[in-house]
Amino acid sequence: MRILFATSEVYGLVKTGGLADVSASLPVALRRRRQDARLILPAYPEAVQRLRRPVTHPGPEDAPWQLIEGHLPGTRMPVYLVDWPEYFQRAGNPYTASNGQDWPDNAQRFAGFARAVARVAADDAGLDWAPEIVHGNDWQCGLLPIYLREACGTGSCPASVFTIHNLAYQGLFPAETATALGLPAELWHPDGVEFHQQLSFMKAGLMFSDAITTVSPTYAREIQQPEHGMGLDGVLRARANVFHGILNGVDYRAWDPARDPHIAAAYGPDDLSGKATCKAALQRRLGLAEDPDIPLLGHVGRMVEQKGMDLLLAVAAPLAEAGRIQLALVGSGQTDLEHAAGALSRAHPGRVGVHIGYDEPLAHQIEAGADLFAMPSRFEPCGLNQLYSLRYGTPPVVHATGGLADTVVDATPEALADGRATGFSFTPDSIPALGDALERALALYHARADGRWEQLMRTGMQQNFDWQVAAGAYLELYREHRPRARAGASAL
Ligand code: ADP
Ligand code: GLC
Repeated sequence: MRILFATSEVYGLVKTGGLADVSASLPVALRRRRQDARLILPAYPEAVQRLRRPVTHPGPEDAPWQLIEGHLPGTRMPVYLVDWPEYFQRAGNPYTASNGQDWPDNAQRFAGFARAVARVAADDAGLDWAPEIVHGNDWQCGLLPIYLREACGTGSCPASVFTIHNLAYQGLFPAETATALGLPAELWHPDGVEFHQQLSFMKAGLMFSDAITTVSPTYAREIQQPEHGMGLDGVLRARANVFHGILNGVDYRAWDPARDPHIAAAYGPDDLSGKATCKAALQRRLGLAEDPDIPLLGHVGRMVEQKGMDLLLAVAAPLAEAGRIQLALVGSGQTDLEHAAGALSRAHPGRVGVHIGYDEPLAHQIEAGADLFAMPSRFEPCGLNQLYSLRYGTPPVVHATGGLADTVVDATPEALADGRATGFSFTPDSIPALGDALERALALYHARADGRWEQLMRTGMQQNFDWQVAAGAYLELYREHRPRARAGASAL
């Protein structure tokens, strides 16, 4: 099947979070299943620079963009970059200016991107190729099904699949933007693109795509309820018959302690000895006291409300103060959270090591060198770091929500006895609940002479969240929707 996978970030070209990991893995897994999957994203300068074997296609005559075709580094994955200089020739983060604020023309930028994708998909861009499925991701691709209808006219049209990676980012803009973008006036109502008098890119994707997915079964259920639905639960319930939760996978070529070039020593479930070397190396790198016996708690992630950094700092501070744990953090995001993390490390030198910024090798070194991995996310559509930490023998401590609830088996006495436990989970998302879970983890760690800690690590390391499972589920979905493609989305 021919599948065009549209996304605003792809690991290997440009990355801010998990969407990039998914975008680099799922299409590759589909190709392994002999499907003709191809990627399309905006031509950010760093993406252009990293693309392998680039060839330029002029694009439609009346369009201000051209297409650069090439390959994802290290793969044979075909990639198209929408080269629209006015919108995408900007260095750094794809969504924000250097002051951390969203670009003021993000609506125009990603509407432009979606429109270009639609023209490519409708075989209007001079490529000798057109997809049967267009798979868009997150709000940046929300307008795709609308533009797809427009681009296909009365001709046949590919089916559209839309994946929610995070419902918290909706692409909300003032009402005037809908006019400025030239969206059909009849779409301006609550059953269209209007969300409380604002334009919602996310809602457009949910209303008009042929099928919708999100990245874990639990998150799929949660966001159909008012508590987690961010105002769109009603829309999701109305489309429940075409809405599915498909758990993300892990790219074990990039995340496996047996062959990770970023870490100090290789190890695996049959020989854990290298992990101690990784712990010592991490302690040295972050200026922590080099002590093999103190429990080292790690965290990697965007520093935003969602990730529960405030809970983590509140619980870790007294534990670090008492010399009961060390803490290793890498992340960036909200200034207040960055400052709080920095302040904690200055207050407890040798016990709390913080690196503010985006650092790929350090993310791997924390996964490998820590004893425990904290993910107290308030909500988490899927979460990839807990899956990485399982593979690295670093039991995760997670709030039982979304994908975290679907992937971590809490170390209750029963689950430990049955050999099913892989980590520690807690609810609600409060300081005492996280504190209790950490105390349970520390108690088991200190009792490691009884063998249960090592068993917990090994059970986690043996879990398999290979992308092939998810790729199979997506393929089934594509097949189900392909024939209906001819008629297009009925609502439009
Ligand atoms: P989200 O997509 O919400 O950010 P995920 O857990 O799905 O959360 O994925 C986050 C990805 O981004 C992981 O691959 C993680 O290692 C990476 N990451 C996040 N912050 C950083 C950072 N500061 N440095 C390096 N990698 C990071
Ligand atoms: C989002 C979510 C995260 C998910 C990732 C990839 O950024 O916050 O939970 O793992 O997308 O789907």
